[in-house]
Amino acid sequence: MRTNFLAPLLLAGALCIPALAQEPVKIGVVAPFSGVAADYGRQMEAGIKAWMRLNGDTIAGRKVQLLVRDTGGPNPEVAKRLAQELVTRDKVDFLAGFGFTPEALAAAPVATEAKVPMIVMNAASSVVTTRSPYIARLSMTLPQVSAPMATWAAKNGIRKVYTLVADYAPGIDSENAFKTAFTAAGGQVVDSVRVPLRNPEFAPFVQRIKDAKPEAVFMFVPAGEQSIAFMKAFDERGLAKAGIKVIATGDLTDDNVLNAMGDPVVGVITSHHYSAHHDSPENKAFVRAFKEVGGNLPRPNFMGVGGYDGMAAIAEVVKKLGAKIDGDRAMEVLKGLKLASPRGPISIDPATRDIVQTVYIRRVEKIGNEYWNVEFDRFPDVKDPGK
Ligand code: PHB
Repeated sequence: MRTNFLAPLLLAGALCIPALAQEPVKIGVVAPFSGVAADYGRQMEAGIKAWMRLNGDTIAGRKVQLLVRDTGGPNPEVAKRLAQELVTRDKVDFLAGFGFTPEALAAAPVATEAKVPMIVMNAASSVVTTRSPYIARLSMTLPQVSAPMATWAAKNGIRKVYTLVADYAPGIDSENAFKTAFTAAGGQVVDSVRVPLRNPEFAPFVQRIKDAKPEAVFMFVPAGEQSIAFMKAFDERGLAKAGIKVIATGDLTDDNVLNAMGDPVVGVITSHHYSAHHDSPENKAFVRAFKEVGGNLPRPNFMGVGGYDGMAAIAEVVKKLGAKIDGDRAMEVLKGLKLASPRGPISIDPATRDIVQTVYIRRVEKIGNEYWNVEFDRFPDVKDPGK
């Protein structure tokens, strides 16, 4: 009798002692936290912290430790150096973050060399996951979100489109995927322009688009300041009045800056994987938690949800592997992983380590004093069409 009585206590003790001795789970977050893209990093970090707010900061007895590093980017050399320091000096279990494709590409060989899983929370050029077997992407790819916009536009009577994209890998991916899907559906791309990644002056490009008289302009530029600048030029040059519509990937109507874009953005149609307006219990809980940890960030955007889901994926690995994160075993956990994300159901394609997810078609609406991406159509289970 007596031994039976003591058994649960002894068992509890046995479970507790190793838990107390556990090392923290170290996550090195590499992203811009200063400069024009400072909100990329801030959104991802707040997304990670929102996950911890809802699920706790200890996984399998290991406390989560974030080592946040600012690239001030886009800045590939700095991203590579920071990733290197995180794996060699700080001995992180995971690399995470990566807002810009060039930064992710620069860090990829570091992940390979050290066999450290690298959780991409935004960088969205198709090629990223091919650069290291230790990369899993919890964000999107540009072709994945661009092709559905083309299919939707062609189905809804838009025939002649002018494309404008940022002149680097994600922009070129977006342009190509849009063109392929749009022409396959019977549409015509009348002309295409690529604008510099840094500080583009949109007015002359917008004027050329106006002169070409397309029915719509399809565009991708990296989220943030540039979206505001584009919509300002579009408004000032009177394109909407000339009957030219804007269709875009949701980077243009990024939730982080949407309220700053104002009335010219109402009615703009975009395709993307996440809207803060998405109606689900998971998203409501996420938005609430994000507001508690996000400082002065107005609401989560797609990089915020990338941070949240990236952290959820890391948690699954830690739960399975416990005290020691072996890179190869971690990738086995990540391949085929399914999660109920605030954006909807997601999974990691075991063949490409890219995300499979619903892509939504949304329209910007003003509700009260705020602007939102309101979803009204969807393409379920979309993969990168080029892979
Ligand atoms: C990228 O560089 O991969 C990137 C940056 C900003 C975006 C989307 C993609 O909004």
